[in-house]
Amino acid sequence: MDIATVDELLTTTRSVRRRLDLTRPVGRDVIVECLRLATQAPTASNAQDWRWLVITDADKRAAIAEIYRSVGAAYLAAAEANASDPQTRRVYRSALGLTETLADVPVHVIPCLAQRFDDGNRLVAASAWASIIPAGWSFLLALRSRGLGSVWTTMHLAKEQEVAEVLGIPATVTQAALFPVAYTIGANFRPATRPPVETITYWNTWEQPVGES
Ligand SMILES: Cc1cc2nc3c(=O)[nH]c(=O)nc-3n(C[C@H](O)[C@H](O)[C@H](O)COP(=O)(O)O)c2cc1C
Repeated sequence: MDIATVDELLTTTRSVRRRLDLTRPVGRDVIVECLRLATQAPTASNAQDWRWLVITDADKRAAIAEIYRSVGAAYLAAAEANASDPQTRRVYRSALGLTETLADVPVHVIPCLAQRFDDGNRLVAASAWASIIPAGWSFLLALRSRGLGSVWTTMHLAKEQEVAEVLGIPATVTQAALFPVAYTIGANFRPATRPPVETITYWNTWEQPVGES
């Protein structure tokens, strides 16, 4: 394996909102190819119950964007105003921007799971979410490797049912996220600042992180 390339993919797959190219068409084949890669991800009990809904229809994207905006715009504006550190403020400003551009992002992808687990216990819920989230992340990695980008969003799930009605998603299906997908403007993304892993990693016991011994 080419470790340098793999590490670059893992460290530079960012949330892309402002650098989504809203003018460049995205072909069906590249989406299907990335979804095919994503379905190599694991599922609990090998159920393989991922489902994907790809939305290119402009009217449907507009309807989804309107629902997204109705959940997110006021919340994100307030969050941006109240953010104490510049990095978080930038994230909220960028997220607020997406509420304005979402309808124009050429492809929306909704990763779904073909089950409901609303009343499930922690084991059931953790198993269900982890049966779609790894596949979702693999999809975003595959996009990045091919010059496309996206951002993991959950905002619309506050109105999951409204989006289900727009798209005809049955009541037996759980939506996990919404990925706005487009080619990125440029491909130079950088690793983000993160806490040193030694400060958040414990070894054998939860007494203190390994870096602080
Ligand atoms: C579970 C989850 C939900 C998120 N929901 C949203 C969202 O609704 N809207 C949005 O613009 N970004 C959303 N994000 C993206 C985060 O804001 C982003 O990952 C974070 O700011 C770090 O940026 P980076 O991914 O470029 O490192 C979400 C991320 C995760 C993991």
